[in-house]
Amino acid sequence: MRDSLGRPGRILLLGGTSEIGLAVLRALPLSPDTEAVLAGRDRAALEAAGKTLRCRTRTVHYDATALDTHPALVADVFAPADVDLVVSAAGILVEQRELDADPLRAGRLMTTDLTGHVTTLLAVAARMREQGHGTIVVLSSVAAVRPRAGTYVYGAAKAGLDAFARGLADSLAGTGVRVLLVRPGFVTGRMTRGLDPAPLATTPERVGAAVARALVRDRGRTVLWVPPALAALGAAMRLTPAPLWRRVARRLDAQRLGGE
Ligand SMILES: NC(=O)c1ccc[n+]([C@@H]2O[C@H](COP(=O)([O-])OP(=O)(O)OC[C@H]3O[C@@H](n4cnc5c(N)ncnc54)[C@H](OP(=O)(O)O)[C@@H]3O)[C@@H](O)[C@H]2O)c1
Repeated sequence: MRDSLGRPGRILLLGGTSEIGLAVLRALPLSPDTEAVLAGRDRAALEAAGKTLRCRTRTVHYDATALDTHPALVADVFAPADVDLVVSAAGILVEQRELDADPLRAGRLMTTDLTGHVTTLLAVAARMREQGHGTIVVLSSVAAVRPRAGTYVYGAAKAGLDAFARGLADSLAGTGVRVLLVRPGFVTGRMTRGLDPAPLATTPERVGAAVARALVRDRGRTVLWVPPALAALGAAMRLTPAPLWRRVARRLDAQRLGGE
């Protein structure tokens, strides 16, 4: 449970080495008694990540593609005590031309970036419904808004995740459980290494600070664009006629911009 200052008692970060996920945890007001459970594949990397946080940490094995393990993992994390915050940050970005040559790899990306979130977060939602409280942060992307030829499998996964998160939020209305859907643009970091930053590029720290603000001070918010100017850009992207969108998207892809 949250303490008297509203600080979360227990947090689960799925994708426990995620630069954005860890930036969210660093930006939140945490008590030294807070426990952050870092879930991921590489134990040494998770332990190193845990040392950068100002709270107690524990690591658990989590493979987003091992769908049948997710209900037990969630049961294990929720068993000792309530979980106040779950950040679902596992994800991979692979260039479309590599996926065109390897459809199975495209399937694995869909499992990591979409299906694994669905199996995990449905189990999380059931536990939080029983608790009667909790917050789930889902990391979508501006790539969810409209597919581009250069990133359309990643875009399809994010569009599915975005729709899932909005439906989940509606299904949890009135239960005391909140879903915060985050749509960052291009974030400079490990995932986008080697790509030219897109216009309105941001950093994991800025995304972390914006998410923490929305969690602590803006509790009615359900969707968060980072940076906020992307909301208008997203609306324009939706309304752009298809032939024009194809030309714009081709130019972005050619410049390898907006790899998010
Ligand atoms: N960076 C951007 O431009 C950007 C923009 C918009 C949205 N996003 C989204 O934000 C989220 C976090 O991105 P980030 O920038 O923090 O990237 P990141 O630092 O590369 O983190 C990605 C995380 O996903 C984990 N992961 C990958 N495959 C996994 C699997 N099969 N099972 C379990 N964990 C797995 C990675 O773990 P390992 O250490 O084991 O690989 C890592 O912890 C992602 O969903 C991403 O799509 C990113």
